[in-house]
Amino acid sequence: MRMRRLSRREALAGVAAGALAGGAATQLAGGSRSRASAPVRPFDGGRQAGIATPSQDHLTLAAFDLHTPDRSDVPRLLRDWTALVVALCGGTAPAVVDDTGERAGLDATGLTVTVGFGASLFDDRYGFAARRPAGLAAPLPGETSLDPRRGGGDLLVQVRGDDRQVVFHAVHQLTNAAMGIARRRWTQHGFLSRAAPGATPRNLFGFKDGIVNPDPDDAAALARHVWVPRGEPLGGGTYLVYRRVRMRLRAWDRAALEVQERAVGRRKASGGPLGGGGETAPLALAAAPVRSHVRLGHPDANGGVRILRRAYNYDDGATADGEQDAGMAFVCFAADPARQVAPMLARMLREDELHRYLTHTAGGLYAVPPAPRRGEHIGEELLS
Ligand code: HEM
Repeated sequence: MRMRRLSRREALAGVAAGALAGGAATQLAGGSRSRASAPVRPFDGGRQAGIATPSQDHLTLAAFDLHTPDRSDVPRLLRDWTALVVALCGGTAPAVVDDTGERAGLDATGLTVTVGFGASLFDDRYGFAARRPAGLAAPLPGETSLDPRRGGGDLLVQVRGDDRQVVFHAVHQLTNAAMGIARRRWTQHGFLSRAAPGATPRNLFGFKDGIVNPDPDDAAALARHVWVPRGEPLGGGTYLVYRRVRMRLRAWDRAALEVQERAVGRRKASGGPLGGGGETAPLALAAAPVRSHVRLGHPDANGGVRILRRAYNYDDGATADGEQDAGMAFVCFAADPARQVAPMLARMLREDELHRYLTHTAGGLYAVPPAPRRGEHIGEELLS
């Protein structure tokens, strides 16, 4: 396959042109709305898209390991990816590699690409050790039992969109641009379906999932819970925590409705709290069973801490023992994973009734840099 690498000048010209294309569009607002009516700006308000952006219908997480011996290939790849992200999200043809064509005629509205860095990028191979963001240092609970081949990685791209093939195309272009520098380590696909636009999707246990989250339009809440404060090395960025969580459907399906609802702490049909009311009714902590999932995740049980969840369902066929291999590609964003995610996760793994039906099989923690400054690539400020 013929590939053309852009010169730095061409790549940056592409960034500028794409940024203009994106500039004409508007950023989506609203909690769980999908099906954007306009392209999402890839770099808006100094942030990468795909974080506060409402969930689209499809997700692909693709992690890459660098195998180049040449340190200068790292910024080169990130420059190419930056130009690609702008082109893909702005609706223009990718300029970094030859377009492979499968997106032609498809609606790419709402596509987002988010790039993150794993802790291994900051090992001794490329001289970035001193630049490692503080949040990557802390191990997260349960890590030792995870499959390393399905998690971790030097680089992560989170691609989300409302059309499965458009998402595939974006990952395809990013993979081609990485050829000779980085190879794919693992991939996880996910999906969400809604009964109506704006409705809360259901997870594969049949419960509404994504009801309680910081409001993406509430800048103060995002500044407090999601964005790393400006002035710190990753300032304006965030951390992405990923867990591939298998749902043990055979056991769950045998559990009575009441048992399921007490494990979650919400009604299955309506999504409302067990104490009464619809899905948006406030959850009274005292009315939620002590070991219920929502109680253990609630800010009042976590010192006011909140996380921004962007989880997707996955269906990977069957396990070797013939059980369905389906569950949740759990993704959340937090400004300080050690303070926000680690204690909550530890308690859930220990006490959560819902976790009796769950197995964490893989995962990762990634630093997500802010949007690049004009003429720079994603992560340039952090890595230089
Ligand atoms: C397969 C795995 C999981 C399933 C099926 C699941 C399911 C749910 C459901 C049904 C809700 C209630 C509806 C809602 O508020 O969206 C919920 C809420 C929540 N979950 Fe999970 N969850 C999973 C994994 C996790 C993990 C690993 C974490 C934390 C690291 C987490 C943190 C939370 C939080 C913070 C809430 C909101 C609690 C509140 O403030 O009411 N969940 N989850």
